[in-house]
Amino acid sequence: MNFGILGAGSIAGIMAETIQMLNKSGCKDISLYAVAARELPRAQSFSARYGVQKAFGSYEEMLADPALDLVYIATPHSHHYQHIKLCAAHGKHVLCEKAFTVNARQAAEALRYAKEQGVLVTEAIWTRYQPMRQMIRQMLDEGLIGTPGLLTANLCYPVSDRPRIVTPALAGGALLDVGVYTLNFAEMVFGPADEAHASCTRNELGVDMTDQIVLTWKDGRAAHLTAGVTVASDRCGCIYGDRGYLVVENINNPQSISIFDADHRLTQKIDCPIQLTGYEYEVLETMRCIQEGKLECPSMPHNETIHIMELMDKIRTQMGISYPCEELD
Ligand SMILES: NC(=O)c1ccc[n+]([C@@H]2O[C@H](COP(=O)([O-])OP(=O)(O)OC[C@H]3O[C@@H](n4cnc5c(N)ncnc54)[C@H](OP(=O)(O)O)[C@@H]3O)[C@@H](O)[C@H]2O)c1
Repeated sequence: MNFGILGAGSIAGIMAETIQMLNKSGCKDISLYAVAARELPRAQSFSARYGVQKAFGSYEEMLADPALDLVYIATPHSHHYQHIKLCAAHGKHVLCEKAFTVNARQAAEALRYAKEQGVLVTEAIWTRYQPMRQMIRQMLDEGLIGTPGLLTANLCYPVSDRPRIVTPALAGGALLDVGVYTLNFAEMVFGPADEAHASCTRNELGVDMTDQIVLTWKDGRAAHLTAGVTVASDRCGCIYGDRGYLVVENINNPQSISIFDADHRLTQKIDCPIQLTGYEYEVLETMRCIQEGKLECPSMPHNETIHIMELMDKIRTQMGISYPCEELD
């Protein structure tokens, strides 16, 4: 399968390394075929650095290449909607970075169009595809902390010096960049929330810098989530039950799961299985689903991508955050 990267920025480089590592580990089904940047020299230096076969100076030129099969979209959130549609119009399958789009309306329309074009589209929210997700689920199902009723999760990085993070036109802000991981963590554990309450602090351009989100479920469960782009945080996720609690180290690529009993004694600790970069799982599942003729991946079905976007729409309405690129076209 010929893999192409659309946008030669920072995460694009990590994905290129992931494909290289997959090849070195014996996976020959995928090849680092193409990269496209808005300017040819950027694509050329990226291709030289990562050993990509072809470099293109425009996204459309790369998408016109008939040998290209699957495109990884690594542009700012503001541009995902138009880039998914562009890929689908050229008959290319898509693995699109989070946040999937800017709002649920864009997500639903992009997915509708891709289905019409017969291409697979899936959201590159890596924590959904990683084995640690199933390991957390199994520990909860085994009743190791009793009945879970409350969780907390936080994800903050000091990244407010990056234009993509702080600019309204690029759909910046904590929620779409890192808050999305806290929401996915909460809903992977508790399922779709019934209510959301949120507030935030903003920068001078009106973009959210620190988000406080409370999710509740009708049966009494709750999640307290924090996301931010001005400070570093421990990135912990804690799930509390009536017989103990479970601590996930780094909800943005879980590294370990520790179980404590109700007397705060550590009873078990499990480390993350050895991984390449952690991005290989989303790539492998996407490839497998394309080979099986599917249009979505089971780890992040389309209805869940749309649901997360709807939840973020609701949260942004409460926080009073909107973007100039909210329209469909
Ligand atoms: N899954 C993860 O762990 C993870 C980690 C980091 C980021 N991300 C996601 O990946 C995406 C990209 O993030 P990043 O940190 O890689 O960003 P970045 O370094 O700023 O790169 C973004 C790329 O988008 C392209 N682009 C197209 N139109 C643009 C515009 N109008 N303004 C700015 N750039 C534009 C640029 O590529 P060319 O000029 O080369 O065409 C740029 O290199 C975001 O959706 C982000 O949320 C995911």
